[in-house]
Amino acid sequence: MVGHKPIQNTDAELPDRQGFAHFMLKEIYEQPEVVRRCLAAYLKPDWDGQDASVLSTPFNLALPEQVSANVAEIQIVACGTSRHAGLVAQYWLEQLAGIPTRVRSASEFVSGPFPLRANTLTIAVTQSGETADTLAAIAVAKRRSPSDASLQSWSLGITNQPESSLSKAVDYIFPTLAGVEIGVAATKTFLSQLVVFCCLALEFALRRRALSVQDAMPLIGALRSLPDQIETLLNQQHEPIQMLAKIIADTKDCIVLGRGINHAIALEGALKLKETTYLHAEGYASGEFMHGPIALLDATVSVIAIAPAGTVYASMLANARKVKANRAPLIGITNASTQADHAMFDHLLTVPATDERLSPLLTVIPLQLLAYAIAVQRSFDVDRPRNITKTLLT
Ligand code: AGP
Repeated sequence: MVGHKPIQNTDAELPDRQGFAHFMLKEIYEQPEVVRRCLAAYLKPDWDGQDASVLSTPFNLALPEQVSANVAEIQIVACGTSRHAGLVAQYWLEQLAGIPTRVRSASEFVSGPFPLRANTLTIAVTQSGETADTLAAIAVAKRRSPSDASLQSWSLGITNQPESSLSKAVDYIFPTLAGVEIGVAATKTFLSQLVVFCCLALEFALRRRALSVQDAMPLIGALRSLPDQIETLLNQQHEPIQMLAKIIADTKDCIVLGRGINHAIALEGALKLKETTYLHAEGYASGEFMHGPIALLDATVSVIAIAPAGTVYASMLANARKVKANRAPLIGITNASTQADHAMFDHLLTVPATDERLSPLLTVIPLQLLAYAIAVQRSFDVDRPRNITKTLLT
C-alpha cells in the first residue's frame, strides 16, 4: 500500500519513483498535491463573493476583460487525453458560461477546420506543448484569423510545459503546474487540465453573469474540497481495485459507459485501459450504446458504468440494467448512497460525493487505478506501453 507523497514542481525533479512501483502509480498518487497547487495558483483563497463588481472573481487568470466580455464561440483543439479534457470543458463552458464550444481532434481540425466566426477563442490543450498535430492546428487557426480587426479572435494554450513551442504560438498561456509526468499514460496532467478549465469556465460564467455568485459559491467550495477527497478516494479504492483487476484481467473486451459530463470520462477510461493493458476497450455515451453496440455484450465483455448521483443517475441505472440482462459482468462507479440501487453491480467502486458537474474530477481516478492495476496484473511495462511515445512530434 502506498500513500501520496509531496512533490516539487521543478524540472530538477528527480526521475525517481520514490517508493512507487511505477511512475504511473506515483503520478496518480500525486494528484491531490497537483490539484492543491493548481487551486493555490488560480483560485483566490479569501474571495467571499461580497464585491459585486463583475471584475471581481475568485480566480487569478490573466485573461483580459475584452476576451471574457466578447467571446462568442470557443473552439478547442487537442489530441488523446488532452482532447478528453477539452470534452469535459465543453460541458462546463456551455452549461455554466453559456458559450457555444466545439472540440475537435487537432489532426482532424487541420484538414477540416470549423467555419470561421467572429470573436472566437481557440484553445489548444497539450500536456507536452509539443504535439505536432496540436501545434499544426493552432497554426491553422491563427492563419485563418479574420483580417478585419472588428472580428476579433484570440488563442490560449493550456499546457504543462509553459516554455514549450505552444507558448510561442498562442496569445495567452495557462500552465497546468502538474510537475514532470514520466508515465506515457497521462494521469495527473489530465486532472490539472480539468482544474484549469473549470476555473476558466467559472471565470467566464461569473464575468458574463451567466452564473450568479450565489450559484457559483457551492461549486467553488466543492473545488476546494477536491484535494482531500482525492486523498480519501486513493486510500479507500486502492485495495478494492487491486482485487477487481485480478478478477477481470483476462476479460476479452471492456466497455465504459458515461452520460452527460461523464461521457468524456468514459472515453478517457477506455483510452487508459487500451494504452496500458492492451485490452480492447471502448467508451460510449450510455444512451447511444443502446442503439446497436449493446449487441456486443455477452459474459466475456466487462462493462463499467459511471453513475454519479444527479441528473443522469436514473438513466445510467436503467442502461446498466439492460447491460446486466445481457450477462455482461457489471462494474459501477458512483458516489450515490442508495444501496438498494447498487445490488445489480457485480463490483462497486465508490468515489466521494460532490456536485455532479465536478464529478469527472473524481470518477476518472478509479479508471486510472484500474488501468494501472490490470496492466501490472498482465505484466506489461506500464510506464512505457508498446507502439507509443510520450509526445508525438511528427
Ligand atoms: C495519454 O495517455 C496519451 N499518452 C496520449 O493520448 C496523449 O494524451 C496525446 O498524445 C496528447 O499529448 P499532449 O497532451 O502532450 O499533446
